[in-house]
Amino acid sequence: MPSNEQMDALFAEARKAADFAYAPYSKFRVGAALLAEDGSVFSGCNVENRSFGLTICAERNAIWQGVARGKRFFTALAISTPDSDEPVGPCGACRQVLSEFMDPSAAIRFGGSGAARVDTTMGELLPHDSLHELAKF
Ligand code: THU
Repeated sequence: MPSNEQMDALFAEARKAADFAYAPYSKFRVGAALLAEDGSVFSGCNVENRSFGLTICAERNAIWQGVARGKRFFTALAISTPDSDEPVGPCGACRQVLSEFMDPSAAIRFGGSGAARVDTTMGELLPHDSLHELAKF
């Protein structure tokens, strides 16, 4: 279980990643940072496209970054949405993809530009995940 200080550091990485967002259409920047089992950190931002359906969220971008470097298991995730005052959680599609590489107990923190933070877990964001065990076959 990552410490509060580790989650703060992860959130700071997510905030930095949000500055790389390519979001000319929504103007809504998102940054995500994932902590891998070995302590390494992988971040991602949202990358929009003029063909809107091709937009990729920050959370899935971060997963691709880690998996493309050989990581398969992440213990924590932080998400920063500096263009909203309040915290904004991951979309449904990202919750499904994250659950492929994170246990239900994995820590997730998200926050906007205000002081409020939501601290939750993968299992709370994707409850009754009956597909989870499939990954072990
Ligand atoms: N977005 C993310 O990057 N992550 C989420 O969980 C929610 C939405 C992006 C997609 C799009 O570029 C912008 O935020 C507005 O929806």
